[in-house]
Amino acid sequence: MKLPRLLVTAMAAMLSAPALAGTVSSPDGRIVVTLDVTGEGVPYYSVERDGKPVITDSNLGFNFTDDDPMRRNFTVQTQISRESEHRWEQPWGERQFVVDHHKELAVTYAETDETPRTITVRMRVFDEGIGFRYEFPEQPHFQTANIAEELTEFNIASEGTAWWIPAGDWNRYEYIYSKTPIREVSVAHTPMTIRLEDGTHLSFHEAALVDYSGMWLRRMDGQRFRASLAPSSRGAKVVRDAPFDTPWRTIRIGDDAADLVENDLELNLNEPNKLGDVSYFEPNKYIGIWWGMIRGDWSWAQGENHGATTERAKQYIDFAAENGFRGVLIEGWNVGWDGNWFGNGRDYSFTQAYPDFDLEEVTSYAAEKGVHLVGHHETGGNIQVYEAQLEDAMAMNQRLGIDVIKTGYVADAGGIISCNADIKDECGEEIFEWHDGQRMVQHHQRVIEVAAKHKIAINPHEPIKDTGLRRTYPNWVAREGARGQEYNAWAKFGSGPDHAPTLVYTRMLSGPMDYTPGVLGLVGDNDMPMASTKAKQLGLYLAIYSPIQMAADFVESLEAHPKELEFIRAVPADWAESKLIAGEVGDYAIFARKDRNSADWYVGGVNDATERTLELAFDFLEPDTDYRATIWKDAEGATYLTDARHKIAYDSKTVKRGDTMSLWLAPGGGAAIRLEPIAK
Ligand code: NOJ
Ligand code: CA
Repeated sequence: MKLPRLLVTAMAAMLSAPALAGTVSSPDGRIVVTLDVTGEGVPYYSVERDGKPVITDSNLGFNFTDDDPMRRNFTVQTQISRESEHRWEQPWGERQFVVDHHKELAVTYAETDETPRTITVRMRVFDEGIGFRYEFPEQPHFQTANIAEELTEFNIASEGTAWWIPAGDWNRYEYIYSKTPIREVSVAHTPMTIRLEDGTHLSFHEAALVDYSGMWLRRMDGQRFRASLAPSSRGAKVVRDAPFDTPWRTIRIGDDAADLVENDLELNLNEPNKLGDVSYFEPNKYIGIWWGMIRGDWSWAQGENHGATTERAKQYIDFAAENGFRGVLIEGWNVGWDGNWFGNGRDYSFTQAYPDFDLEEVTSYAAEKGVHLVGHHETGGNIQVYEAQLEDAMAMNQRLGIDVIKTGYVADAGGIISCNADIKDECGEEIFEWHDGQRMVQHHQRVIEVAAKHKIAINPHEPIKDTGLRRTYPNWVAREGARGQEYNAWAKFGSGPDHAPTLVYTRMLSGPMDYTPGVLGLVGDNDMPMASTKAKQLGLYLAIYSPIQMAADFVESLEAHPKELEFIRAVPADWAESKLIAGEVGDYAIFARKDRNSADWYVGGVNDATERTLELAFDFLEPDTDYRATIWKDAEGATYLTDARHKIAYDSKTVKRGDTMSLWLAPGGGAAIRLEPIAK
């Protein structure tokens, strides 16, 4: 702990004339960031684009629980500039190659008193936006950071519209997005998407969230936001020993919606792959014993409606084998679901199956058929019970050939039970943590590392948000982290027609989502209709990226839709390139994606409640090549509002580069097109 600071006189502060710490611009020169200190020695930054302010003077700093704030009385000690350009390859992803071209300015600030603490702000500026982080070097007058709050500000220069979900509320990230003037945001999760009045598009987020607490954005006044870290049961929101770096605070900046989507800012700010060869993970599609539990037809718990029986597992494995699905997810296979598991999880065993589910028999049956089970570990938020069994559970899964596991943390946010497994029977001690506090960030990392040791990929539900860590840990393949398909089972029109075309420009900017598309029956619990046409269920495979894509419906329903199943069977889960060829935030999103393993392209996506006709330009195709376009689209008269949601049309035509195609999207509609080169 630092010695009590002597009164730093206002005089001294005023005498230290404001020194311009420096500016750094994007490689194309459009974005210019200034780092400086005020007359009182408060570090701040500002961002301009094309000479217009985007972020006006915004302060930087920290409050601690046991030390003076790092907020004023700083001077610039050093500044170092650098430029870097390189290309790297993703083992799987929305595109195979990623270009990282940025300019950097690292400014080290030191306090002006006799026991000065120092801190470095590293600012990286790309054509696509900016990222900066704090670095706490090893130093004599500061050893442990007990962070009460991060004081980073984001002072948005003009008015505009925000798409956001509330942070610090009970339902984690599983909210419908609000679309409001920026001035009406309260406390928001990131990514938060903004369209300024002049059309500039922004997305606020963070990159490389490691051993730190997730950042929320709290609107202070007007358009001024401040970082607000997810709380911790300990008091200090983050506890770290120097030296350490914070996550990067990021702002994607673009002219339009496509600039936000075709943007690898956070991936570029993460460390390269630390796991080496991850070829054990194959991007794939899976089905599962799942929708029946979500709808309430079957139970996770034991009883006459138990979903996960040996017999049903074999039925699903047979269907997967016949239709080329690599994976079969089976939920409710393990001991612990009887009684109240929500926010509890004390009884979960991750190695012991229920008596009517023969794990060994099912996994060897799957292996014979070339199918892999997708494991399932619901924790009810009880991370200590899970951590105590983690190694044994992962080892067992590896032995059984289960190489993808869906995890789950169903508990109210702020209600994670951290019950000590050693005293599981008494389980008196309950510690409540937020889903995105430092303890949970550490937990997720632990799971990823143990899983990697056993060559297993992880797909958490009720997760911590994605901050691009899939680059460093490519076995972290997807996550939920938003309102997924399950909500369409629980209310008429579920999440509504706007939700998917909003997710594309908000949640999806953070990384792959296990949304679980492909409910072709279009009905949830009690046969309540979904806010989707049939074609939209196919368009979701192109709009909501994941390297593991589920066909979430019952196998009987998939089987009853052979034409739609043909598309689901064909659509890849791994891409060489992805482009948003038409779209506006919250309204619609049409992607063109190129298969990583063939010359095929796929075009399609999702629409909101407003019908529209788009003129799609096929200028991404290879020149001098004819493609056979197989089309699944909303049929005339289709609408999510009535039974006409089932109306789907099939078409096929020849297209080539430079052609355009007129495409009508129904209210709540969508489309999917496969483009195969025709051999000459
Ligand atoms: C919530 C998850 O999102 C869902 O997919 C899962 O089936 C249940 N929790 C049970 O684990
Ligand atoms: Ca969920």
